Amino acid sequence: MNETIKTILTRRSIRKYKPEQFPAEILQQILEAGLYAPSAMGRQPWHVVVVRGLDKIAEVNREVKAATARMKDNPYADYVGSESYTVNYHAPTFVIVSGDTTVSPRNAQFDCALLLGNMFLAAHSLRIGSCWINQLNVLNDEPVFRKYMTKLGIPKENQIFGCACFGYADAPNPTAVARKKNAVVIIE
Ligand SMILES: Cc1cc2nc3c(=O)[nH]c(=O)nc-3n(C[C@H](O)[C@H](O)[C@H](O)COP(=O)(O)O)c2cc1C
Repeated sequence: MNETIKTILTRRSIRKYKPEQFPAEILQQILEAGLYAPSAMGRQPWHVVVVRGLDKIAEVNREVKAATARMKDNPYADYVGSESYTVNYHAPTFVIVSGDTTVSPRNAQFDCALLLGNMFLAAHSLRIGSCWINQLNVLNDEPVFRKYMTKLGIPKENQIFGCACFGYADAPNPTAVARKKNAVVIIE
């Protein structure tokens, strides 16, 4: 099995992290891998905010919890409202990926997901754990959170489509959940 396939098959979502930050050079490689993802018509509608450090991420966490609590029909209300919830599983790097839906109305979400997928695989190949975080995706239209997004530098045309945390795993690589074999049909 070649190294790329091995990386793909052994990447797991990591939900327990060491507090130590990983080097900026590694972050740059992860980001570059993300930016080389395919995008519809090469439009690259994505925008990436990287929040580094547990103190800064704690602020994001507070804003997410407060915004979630203010909303009437937030699907993550119970989960985010629980005392143990953090947006980052205590990982020291947090990434917010948003897409410009005016540039790519039908595909920005897919493009952002591919960018995140590339980042997860690159991170794993560099011994950095990662996990997709979904709870910010439903906060785009919450007015106070929208202002906070602007403060973070997220363009006003953009929607958050996915976030992720990155850091050194603090537990053995989890065993993969069995993949559905019947998800594939080969016609010859
Ligand atoms: C669109 C999407 C949303 C996800 N949201 C979350 C999330 O909010 N929190 C979380 O811990 N994991 C989240 N995950 C990770 C999945 O739970 C994980 O990929 C899945 O259980 C398979 O495990 P694996 O990544 O270790 O192979 C998400 C994954 C995707 C693709």
